[in-house]
Amino acid sequence: MRVVLLGPPGAGKGTQAKGIAEHYGIPHISTGDLFRENVGQGTPLGLKAKAYMDRGELVPDSLVIEFVEDRIARDDCKDGFLLDGFPRTIPQAEAFWDYCTEKNIPLDAAVNLEVPSDLIVHRISGRRSCPKCGAVYNIYTNPPKAENTCDHDGSELVQRSDDKAETVQTRLDVYDKETAPLIDYYTDKGVIKNIDAVGTPDEVQQKILAAMA
Ligand code: AP5
Repeated sequence: MRVVLLGPPGAGKGTQAKGIAEHYGIPHISTGDLFRENVGQGTPLGLKAKAYMDRGELVPDSLVIEFVEDRIARDDCKDGFLLDGFPRTIPQAEAFWDYCTEKNIPLDAAVNLEVPSDLIVHRISGRRSCPKCGAVYNIYTNPPKAENTCDHDGSELVQRSDDKAETVQTRLDVYDKETAPLIDYYTDKGVIKNIDAVGTPDEVQQKILAAMA
């Protein structure tokens, strides 16, 4: 199963990706997580990506496309993959579609999570993450057992640097301009699965798996 997961910032892509990847036994590849890891490790890619991410802008297509194609060429992707946060521009989608065609690995589905913007802002403002293991919580809907402390390793939870209100607005504007057009792109390709992503994480997961069955 080869899937891309679309949706605005905070729609729940990361939350849903874990369960879908587990269900199909495929790797979950999040470009946002990979960039954050590179930023944390101070790699050359991370140094280039950081300024764009901090402003809520997209990392340039040329950096992202090569990075993803290298990643899915690895052995663990031979039976499929789930891409979370890629593609998010028309040039990324076109380059990726051509790559998949050339390698004869057609995309099975582009799952699009639909969430109203007031709910998105609420979900993002409540998100807290563990800097050590990457676990994601939400102070409103999925709080840790002890306040601001990771259930898994006891680390102090943090708010992502791009989750501040002014940066979130830029990310939403960038989504409308650059990423929302992918819904029509994948509709034309015949692989779109639009999902009403309002509801508990489990309810949304059931809707996704039913649409993909
Ligand atoms: P990225 O990390 O991909 O961020 P994003 O797309 O903005 O998405 P988020 O991670 O904010 O949200 P999500 O949809 O995963 O929601 P989550 O599951 O956490 O990208 C960050 C940056 O990296 C970009 O701005 C860009 O600079 C760069 N980048 C990445 N990919 C790139 C690319 N391809 N090209 C160029 N640049 C790129 O959920 C949010 C919160 O809501 C959580 O607290 C969660 O617990 C809660 N929640 C989730 N689902 C539910 C539910 N059903 N009910 C209640 N609460 C819920």
